[in-house]
Amino acid sequence: SAAEKGGWPSFMDKEIHEDPQAVAETLMGRFDLQGHITLDELHVSVEELKSVDKIIVVACGTASYAGLVAKYAIEHWVRIPVEVELAHEFRYRDPILTPRTLVIAISQSGETMDTLMAIRHAREQGSKVLALCNTQGSSIPRESDAVLYTHAGPEVAVASTKAFVAQITAAYLVGLYLAQVKNVMFADEIQEVLRSLRQMPQKIQWVLDNDVDVVKKTAHKLVDSKAFLFLGRHVGYPVALEGALKLKEIAYTFTEGFAAGELKHGPIALVDEGTPVVVIVPSARNRNVLHSKVISNIEEVKARGAYTITVAEEGDPDAEKYADTVFYRPACPTLMSPLVDVVPLQLFSMYMAEAKGNDVDKPRNLAKSVTVE
Ligand code: G6P
Repeated sequence: SAAEKGGWPSFMDKEIHEDPQAVAETLMGRFDLQGHITLDELHVSVEELKSVDKIIVVACGTASYAGLVAKYAIEHWVRIPVEVELAHEFRYRDPILTPRTLVIAISQSGETMDTLMAIRHAREQGSKVLALCNTQGSSIPRESDAVLYTHAGPEVAVASTKAFVAQITAAYLVGLYLAQVKNVMFADEIQEVLRSLRQMPQKIQWVLDNDVDVVKKTAHKLVDSKAFLFLGRHVGYPVALEGALKLKEIAYTFTEGFAAGELKHGPIALVDEGTPVVVIVPSARNRNVLHSKVISNIEEVKARGAYTITVAEEGDPDAEKYADTVFYRPACPTLMSPLVDVVPLQLFSMYMAEAKGNDVDKPRNLAKSVTVE
């Protein structure tokens, strides 16, 4: 009903505007100002966590892209390998699971059958399963060894938005907690990361306050485009995949998301006069070598006639040079950038779907939670 939407035209619109709270609530009460993380609710012993030598994230859809973002952060912080696997592929390929493997199942609903079957398999093989889940008491947390809830609040729109940013936040907390338990990061390093994480709700709010008009205008302009490309590098890569998925799900547009470095290995052949290409541009600060590589990708597609949209840091002159449109984000550390970069892409798909007259909250052929294999 209109009341449930709290004045927003759709649940999706409301839920995108709840991205900042989703991150803030998921962080709440889980660490102190000295940077000490307490996740007592996990119910896994410190000894068990210390012994973890590999993480496998299993998930589907948007949750799997949150897992892919987390891989970049957790490997960097904890120095143990993190694999991310689609839950439906995982179980049927005889994956290597030992008692020292921590399987992290990410699921908004907690009811996705593919993910549930994957964790059953992992536990049968003797691995520990930790669920990152948004729905209290659902099947996946019930069948896991431990659970850390995301506190995004109920998500109604089929296309997942605020749950995604909450999943990244929760996975980051788990990564930092492992680093703390395994003693592989200094306390002040953990404190520093937590400090940037705590600033993310207001940075997301900045995007919501500043980008809506340009995103809407761009969506209206491109409403008749038949296909889109999304590209990004490092943590911008999963963000590109998620932005592309959103557009498929609710705007029904053929969209390909891929790693920017792959452009020359194939996808550039798709670029033609007017092809819209959305590029996630990493920060140029700290002499980030990836920045110039991504900028030259934009130049390459622009030279072939693409209509270029960049998601870039405020005041990045290179990101404007070859861009037809820029969706700005406030400056933040690279590992934090997915939390802001996904927001204009969520809005973009929503405005695109609206402009096409689609049902934004209930896209055709899709269900909020898929409880069959
Ligand atoms: C369905 C939904 C997606 C969601 C995926 C995983 O396909 O339509 O939006 O990302 O399931 O759902 P889960 O509840 O496990 O996060």
